[in-house]
Amino acid sequence: MQEWAPPGVDPTQPSIARVYDYFLGGKNNFEVDRKVAEEALKIAPDAREAGRANRAFLRRAVRHMAAEAGIRQFLDLGSGLPTQGNVHEIAQALAPDAHVVYVDHDPIVLAHGRALLAADDRTTVVPGDIRNPGEILDHPEVLRHLDFGRPLGLLLVSVLHHVNDDEDPSGVMARFRSVLAPGSHLAIVHFHNPGDEHPEASRVAVEAERSFNQNLGTGRWRTRAEIASYFGDLELVEPGLVPLAEWRAEPGDVVRQDLTHYNVLAGVARKH
Ligand SMILES: C[S@@+](CC[C@H](N)C(=O)[O-])C[C@H]1O[C@@H](n2cnc3c(N)ncnc32)[C@H](O)[C@@H]1O
Repeated sequence: MQEWAPPGVDPTQPSIARVYDYFLGGKNNFEVDRKVAEEALKIAPDAREAGRANRAFLRRAVRHMAAEAGIRQFLDLGSGLPTQGNVHEIAQALAPDAHVVYVDHDPIVLAHGRALLAADDRTTVVPGDIRNPGEILDHPEVLRHLDFGRPLGLLLVSVLHHVNDDEDPSGVMARFRSVLAPGSHLAIVHFHNPGDEHPEASRVAVEAERSFNQNLGTGRWRTRAEIASYFGDLELVEPGLVPLAEWRAEPGDVVRQDLTHYNVLAGVARKH
C-alpha cells in the first residue's frame, strides 16, 4: 500500500532523515525507511540508543553554548525532522531571545519543520545543502536571523558523515569556519572507525558503512584524525573529542552504549 507523503517527498526512496526518525521512535517514516533501519539494527543492535545518545549530546552542547558561552544565535546544519528537544526549545528555555536557523536538504524536514515552527518569529527552517556552503551563508532568511559579526553556535550533529570524500568535507568545513566570529562554538558528531584501537567496533564501522552506502548512498566512518581536522584551529573544550555518550554526560543520560560506543565521536570547540 502506498503511504501518504508531503509534496516533493518520494516514499519509494529511503532517506536518512526518515531512517533516523524511525530509530528515535518517530512516525514520519515509510516502509522503505524501516527496511533500511532494520538492516542497520542487525549490524548495530544498539542503534536506537545511539540515536538517543545523539539527541542527549545535542541538548548538552546547546545548553553549554547558551548558558556558559552566552551564545544567542544558532545555525543547525542537517537539523533532521522535529523531535523531542529541538535546538530552539533548548536554547530559548535558557535564553528566550535566542535565534535558531535550521537547515536541511530533505523536503520532509522542511514540510514538518515549517509546521512546527510557524508560531515563532525567532526560529526558521531553510532549505539548503551543506555541500554548497555559499548558498546557505548568503540565504536571505539566514542573514535576517544571524549576525556573523557576533558569536554563533554552529551545529553539525550527525550530518558531516553524509558528505562523501569526493565532495570535499574539509573544504565545506573550512568555508563554514571562515564566517565564525571570536567566541563562536562549533559542535560536531561524526561516525568513527577506531581502527586497531577497537577492532570489534572497527568491524561494525566497515559493515555499517557498506550497508549505508548500498541503501542510502552515503555514510563515512572516518578516523579520529579526520574528524579532529574539521575543527580547524578552533580549540576543543573539555573533555575534547570523545565517544558521543561521554561528552559531559548528565544524570539520567545513556553513558555507555553497547557495541557502537566507539563508533561515534563528539566534540565542541571554541573560536578564539
Ligand atoms: C541523522 S540526521 C541528524 C539530525 C539531527 N542533526 C540530529 O543529530 O538529531 C541527518 C540529517 O542531515 C540531513 N542531511 C544529510 N546530508 C545533507 C546535506 N548535504 N545538506 C543538508 N542536510 C543534509 C538529512 O536530511 C538528515 O535530516
